[in-house]
Amino acid sequence: MERLAAPPGGGPAGTAIVASASRLRGENRVPGDKSISHRALMLALMAEGVSQIRGAGDGADVRSTAGIVRALGATVERSESAGGLADYRVVSPGLDGLVGDPGVLDCGNSGTSLRLFAGILAGAPVKATLDGDDSLRRRPVARIIEPLRAMGARLEARDHDTLPPVIVTGGVALGAIDWTTPVPSAQVKSAILFAGLRANGITRVTERVATRDHTERMLRARGVTVRSAPDGGAGAVIEIEGGARVPAIDEQVPGDPSAAAFWLVAAAAHPDADLVIRSVGVNPTRRAVIDILTRMGARIEERAVGVGQARDADVGEPIADLRAQSSDLTATEISAEEVAAAIDEIPILCLAATQARGRTTIRGAGELRHKESDRLAGIAAGLGALGARISVDGDDIVIDGPVRLAGTSTDSLDDHRLAMTFAIAGLIASGTTTIGRPDSAAISYPGFFSDLERIRA
Ligand code: S3P
Repeated sequence: MERLAAPPGGGPAGTAIVASASRLRGENRVPGDKSISHRALMLALMAEGVSQIRGAGDGADVRSTAGIVRALGATVERSESAGGLADYRVVSPGLDGLVGDPGVLDCGNSGTSLRLFAGILAGAPVKATLDGDDSLRRRPVARIIEPLRAMGARLEARDHDTLPPVIVTGGVALGAIDWTTPVPSAQVKSAILFAGLRANGITRVTERVATRDHTERMLRARGVTVRSAPDGGAGAVIEIEGGARVPAIDEQVPGDPSAAAFWLVAAAAHPDADLVIRSVGVNPTRRAVIDILTRMGARIEERAVGVGQARDADVGEPIADLRAQSSDLTATEISAEEVAAAIDEIPILCLAATQARGRTTIRGAGELRHKESDRLAGIAAGLGALGARISVDGDDIVIDGPVRLAGTSTDSLDDHRLAMTFAIAGLIASGTTTIGRPDSAAISYPGFFSDLERIRA
């Protein structure tokens, strides 16, 4: 992980100090969407020729994917553009021309890199080991190994095929499968769809709860037929036919709604705030955080930009400018389906709930135990230390508010979303809040702490 040059707020090494803010004003431009940036680089690897990606996220996770694309034999040129975004030019020989024995591919902290590359490499003429840091080595992989093996892929993993590293021995003929995902996971769905591109026949994935659909949209933007339909409930059925060619294209990545969520909650929960976040992706499968906050009474205005214009037409993603202002928040019930749709925003939604009148219950959040840290434990410990009334009951989170938070020491557990949640808490808490291991923010949002200081008015 990249380290920060100096700890923000002047705290001792390994900590950041965030002081209470009297006013929040201004505009932030968040990094390019992390999920879309990973997929854009991966699709550029699959496509023979020259791909251009503008406005990608420049966090450590996306850089891990770029490093793997390079190790597999593509030329990857990265240039920094304004606001901490990265532009990439990728020249790839296509999947059949990859380096056959690249050795260990370092996914760093990135579960998306590990799981999606497993699906991509399963049908490519490559033998490789997908590995990463200590946190990644604790994340479950049976969920991808089982469906990919059912397609004929050869994969092995540590601890009875449950934990990374994952060894993929590609070069085998894959067959289509009809798979129902037991846990809602866009990573699992995407790994199967990418393998399905190389499989013989029609691969079908059924999700009981629909997850983010960037892979489907980005394949369609490249002319690949991907059929998807609601399953009549909260789920979806997605089909892809094997054998389609993925062409190289130029594309623009929208701003990351998961990063924007930090500023939305900062503004809504602060008594004197008015913030604008430009060019944020508002894909229906990613916007749940906006809708939940709005239901809680958050004043969020959304102005669509670029609809029908080239800059969003190519990735097929709707984009909007968002404005959020100080709000009177009320508690809400968040269902298990909504948890799946707002999986990365649950920590910051917990902070919003501490400032909302009444009891907020977040149901079926057990999957948070398997993220970059055990986020259920981490969020309860950090917000609890700040004075929140928060408890974890089985897989449910229960929060009573509003509570005036008081600055104290918190620990991010080296998890980017916890580091940023506790930093936002520091803006609204009294006194100063210390965040242990704040560098983790750079996993998805390298400029986070300078954006945070810039909006103090
Ligand atoms: C992601 C899917 C989600 C999310 C992760 C990114 C993706 O994980 O938590 O940050 O890009 O597909 P799961 O699909 O495993 O829940």
